[in-house]
Amino acid sequence: MKPLIRAMTVADLPAAAAIEAITFDAPWSEQLFAEDLAARGRHWVGAERDGEFVGYAGGWVLDDEAHLLNIAVREDARGHGIGRTLLSTLMGRLRESGATRMTLEVRPANAPAVALYESAGMRAVGVRPGYYAETGEDALVMWGELSPLSANNPPIILAIETSCDETAAAVMRGKRELLADVVASQIDFHARFGGVVPEIASRKHTEAIVDVVAQAMQEAGDSLRALGDEHAPAGSEPLSFSAVDAIAVTYGPGLVGALVVGLAYAKGLAMATGLPLVGVNHLEGHIFANVLADEQVRPPLVALLVSGGHTSLVHMPEWGVYKTMGETLDDAAGEAFDKVAKVLGLGYPGGPILSRLAADGDPAAIDFPRAMMRSGDYQFSLSGLKTAVINHIRHEQQAGREIDVPDLAASFQAAVIDVQVAKAARAVTETGARVFCLGGGVAANPALREALRAAIEPLGVHVSVPPLNLCTDNAAMIAAAAYHRYRNGEALGLEADAVPGLRLDTV
Ligand code: KG4
Ligand code: ZN
Repeated sequence: MKPLIRAMTVADLPAAAAIEAITFDAPWSEQLFAEDLAARGRHWVGAERDGEFVGYAGGWVLDDEAHLLNIAVREDARGHGIGRTLLSTLMGRLRESGATRMTLEVRPANAPAVALYESAGMRAVGVRPGYYAETGEDALVMWGELSPLSANNPPIILAIETSCDETAAAVMRGKRELLADVVASQIDFHARFGGVVPEIASRKHTEAIVDVVAQAMQEAGDSLRALGDEHAPAGSEPLSFSAVDAIAVTYGPGLVGALVVGLAYAKGLAMATGLPLVGVNHLEGHIFANVLADEQVRPPLVALLVSGGHTSLVHMPEWGVYKTMGETLDDAAGEAFDKVAKVLGLGYPGGPILSRLAADGDPAAIDFPRAMMRSGDYQFSLSGLKTAVINHIRHEQQAGREIDVPDLAASFQAAVIDVQVAKAARAVTETGARVFCLGGGVAANPALREALRAAIEPLGVHVSVPPLNLCTDNAAMIAAAAYHRYRNGEALGLEADAVPGLRLDTV
């Protein structure tokens, strides 16, 4: 149930003409659409709902002035904010092409349309008598600035992330200039339970979200002042929403009760400000942590995503295109670290604790299984390793021997890393990728970072590992991923729902 706003293409024209035919007295034909789509200075965006094309909006830019040509939403898809999102996405595109104001004609009797335009900052400036030839009706002419919601170039994006146990908001200008990056971690609240408790996560997000976003807007204002930027807010004011170009939010994958908090808040902001809502896949965010930190990161690339919830190898042949080459059949890498640490009574989250202990241990001390090492594909399996570690601990305890925790940690870690490095190197070779990047919480593991560099750099491939603050969940990476979607004019409608099992390949 997520309407997706994107560029309209020739393939959409039969559906567009069908909507047109039942909506207007003087409908545009498929032919007319095709000609306009190909004409200079034209911008068309379309909306999809449940895989069906349900609406569109088009405009024309001439120098600094834009004209709204057409907007329609199929009758059964109305009432979900799709028209509003189409309009705000289109206005963003017109603005990006240099227009600073827009005009349009509307039937004065079409009250919902007039209200929609007014909410987008348009106002009536005159009447065009007898404009509608079929009925002889007059047209109301409306006019408005395209920049009450700023014409920032590069655009400023406010991003929100609440997919797991971090409430985060960031403000980014352009591709990678971070103006604010706020992360409120709930880890302490979950630690006593040895893992993330979904109910606690969503409650804590609800408590934190308002302050976290407000703090990000304050930091962004402070950053612009520190830069001596001409758009800096006065005094000690936070950044104003009128200086923001889009609201970005993670809508999956993650805990549903956690995702909905950020999504609902972002939807509310988009509704109140009229800004487009850009939906981001959390895993895409982990890849973009690399784009943010390293200018050399661009497709074609291969990414290894390793977190508490995911272990996958992803091929990104071009911007916005993702192919999952393989993933874990059972536990995620971070999950395996957390579970082993729990068995050893080391606390939560286990990854950082185990990796610190492993630094003082011998990785060859215990020969743990390297599952799927020779499976010939890109799948992973970590639950067998976890069981092997538990069996080893029991065995040692029964034999009355003390467990050497650093040796155990180092041997476990080496078993995880060996398989990941071998598969990552093979994926890079097979795809011919020029860049390899690492993402997700486990990317903070120093031994994994080192082993990947050592195996992949000699292949002549650039290896990117994000700085530690960008490895764990944050909103800066969501803003970076949103930048590309925003530039493509992609947006979510206000009826969008969280998708806990959202796949990267479908975004
Ligand atoms: O990406 P993230 O912050 O949240 C999820 O989306 O899951 O990842 C958290 C996971 C936890 O399982 C944590 O134990 C693991 O990342 N982790 C590590 C290290 N630091 C965090 N695992 C291994 N070594 C580390 N140094
Ligand atoms: Zn994550």
